Amino acid sequence: MTDLTTVSSTSVSPDVAAGVAQFLSPVVIDLTALVVNGKQAHWHVRGANFVGVHELLDTIVEHAQDWADSAAERIVALGLPVDARLATVAAKTTTGELTAGFQQSDTTIAEFVAQIDAALTSIKTAVDELDSIDLTSQDIAIEIARGLEKDRWFLVAHVSK
Ligand SMILES: [Fe+2]
Repeated sequence: MTDLTTVSSTSVSPDVAAGVAQFLSPVVIDLTALVVNGKQAHWHVRGANFVGVHELLDTIVEHAQDWADSAAERIVALGLPVDARLATVAAKTTTGELTAGFQQSDTTIAEFVAQIDAALTSIKTAVDELDSIDLTSQDIAIEIARGLEKDRWFLVAHVSK
């Protein structure tokens, strides 16, 4: 019978787990902020292309939630906890603040794209740093970057000439 006391909680070294947590935690936090702020934008957008922007923001929120889950569960799979509590997200997110209340869609798009760009900076830092730490975790960051850049394109296309 297997002695469970000898089963490690993780398949990687503590240094690798710590490095993954260091660079994927900001990704979890920024994506979680995009979920909350994306809903705020979804509810308050008005004006040109209303239906398209309103619905696209909901799609981006769904994607951000899924990606936050992927990044968080990678950290946890390596045996470390994630702190994405509300107060922690508010204190540590790099995404900044949206203007309160109803906004015209061009304003909503400009403000939310700035939030996406802040998150992409954290994601690309993770891609770069995880290259020498853990390629399996880097793959998650790359997948998130690819998807969020596509969502950014879909949003910007509403106001591009
Ligand atoms: Fe809705």
